[in-house]
Amino acid sequence: MSKGLFVTFEGVDGCGKTTQMNLLAKYLKDNGHDVILTREPGAKGLGEKIREILLHYDGEVSSRAESFLFLADRAQHIDKIVNPAVEQGKIVLCDRHTDSTLAYQGYGRGVVLEQLKMLNNLATGQRKPDITFVFDIDIETSMSRVGKEKDRMESAGIEFFEKVRKGYLEIAKQEPDRVKVLDSTRSIDEISEDVIKYIRSINP
Ligand code: TYD
Repeated sequence: MSKGLFVTFEGVDGCGKTTQMNLLAKYLKDNGHDVILTREPGAKGLGEKIREILLHYDGEVSSRAESFLFLADRAQHIDKIVNPAVEQGKIVLCDRHTDSTLAYQGYGRGVVLEQLKMLNNLATGQRKPDITFVFDIDIETSMSRVGKEKDRMESAGIEFFEKVRKGYLEIAKQEPDRVKVLDSTRSIDEISEDVIKYIRSINP
């Protein structure tokens, strides 16, 4: 893989995507690729400040305000971290991106999807993920993985997360070429093999 690549990892909280991202990073680095790991919200700098508000502010936050905070983080992240790295030929692995906003704020909170898509485009400019993995898991299992110490987003309740999960599956149906759904109830190794297989298939 000599040209840059932008890969995003999506799914409900506790779906195992971060573990899979780390495993793919190791595989790619062992094979000589230049890889960076990053995340939304809150890669570094300004993003860290926005993340602090999003996950820990304890006052009321309207769904539209919440959407704009995620979008502000995204615009900064794309301009200052993702684009420069991809342009240098690096493989960027990103924990959450545009589909989180559609799934959580759109399908989950009920903000109008078409408007969120437009705003996502404004935040990302020309940059789109080359491939997106959605780690699909039932909400009971995912919530048991999250545990009792929940941040502001994780405290939203089972019904909310059921909607988010359905949202991801709907997005995958609409964009099957980009979005790959992986059954995340399987073993870590089985899932990782699938992830690596897909990556090799788009850029062997
Ligand atoms: P984080 O601790 O990074 O969760 P995880 O390890 O599950 O990725 O918290 C990010 C939270 O923000 C998570 O609950 C998903 C949510 N989120 C949105 O609601 N919209 C978004 O656009 C993004 C990027 C994240």
